Amino acid sequence: MQALLELLKDGHFHSGEELGRLLGVSRTAVWKQLQQLERDFSIRLHRVRGKGYRLPGGMRLLDPAVICSASPWPVEVLLDTDSTNAQVVRELALGRCPPFVILAERQTGGRGRRGRSWSSPFAENLYFSLVLEVEGGFPSVEGLSLVAGVAVLRALHAFGVLGAGLKWPNDVLVGDAKLAGILLELYGDPADICRVVFGIGINANMLSADLERSWTSVRRELGEPVDRSQLALMLARQLHDCIALHKTHGFEPFRSEWERYHLWQGRKVKLLSGQSIIEGEALGIDDRGALRMSVEGVERSFSGGELSLRLSDDS
Ligand code: BTN
Repeated sequence: MQALLELLKDGHFHSGEELGRLLGVSRTAVWKQLQQLERDFSIRLHRVRGKGYRLPGGMRLLDPAVICSASPWPVEVLLDTDSTNAQVVRELALGRCPPFVILAERQTGGRGRRGRSWSSPFAENLYFSLVLEVEGGFPSVEGLSLVAGVAVLRALHAFGVLGAGLKWPNDVLVGDAKLAGILLELYGDPADICRVVFGIGINANMLSADLERSWTSVRRELGEPVDRSQLALMLARQLHDCIALHKTHGFEPFRSEWERYHLWQGRKVKLLSGQSIIEGEALGIDDRGALRMSVEGVERSFSGGELSLRLSDDS
């Protein structure tokens, strides 16, 4: 399938015979693969008798050579998976050693925070999972999810999306529209060596999607498509630098940058935790990345993966 897409991505016409010759398969096999592309990947092909098949407008796929040549970690680029986070876990179970990155052109079961799904259409966005081994147990992981948010934000700013900001703990938004999300998953011994999977989704070139909540993409913000391979590389580099600094100095060096870009700093918010709702004012974060809120005039700190923040006036 990948080889067929590589041939069609130029947007020009290719006859069934030519495709079969180049792929070393029969015309019937080509036809079956073309049907699968249309059915499984929602790709619309243009067919003209005597000319063959064409992908209107062409398609820019992730370029493994570009990404692997400059990435700080080994990278694998998949056409299709259920979830890059789930794929990382399967590869770990098979004995693959961290660190490594998995990228995919689409996810059929993309996972979001708090049990949500993550929309992952083919060849439009970035679905990126990095796994690292961390010594010192869960305390060494403290603040890492916010650090990942800073790295994503730096990558987006470097690409010119200057309106992007953060919402605790690690949502990346423009205004109230979601641009990127981060799902951190921990495995291993909570007191010793653990493996951290950083699952990052960035809406890169998506222009239409039927999603419940407000969203945007890099392309929407910039008015032109973005090179996803370069964006993936920039993300990997920023993550690499931020994680290295966190390893030596903890979360503290990130605190002021994080607060500078916190979109809801000083706003009236409600914090959802299971069935309970805590209302107050968002004051910022502490030097471990916990959310500081003024609740009935008293400053309190909150942390934990299942917490979710909303604006108080957001019905
Ligand atoms: C969120 O809910 O904000 C987090 C979304 C995280 C989505 C990314 S896409 C790559 C990785 N694989 C997944 O299944 N989820 C994460």
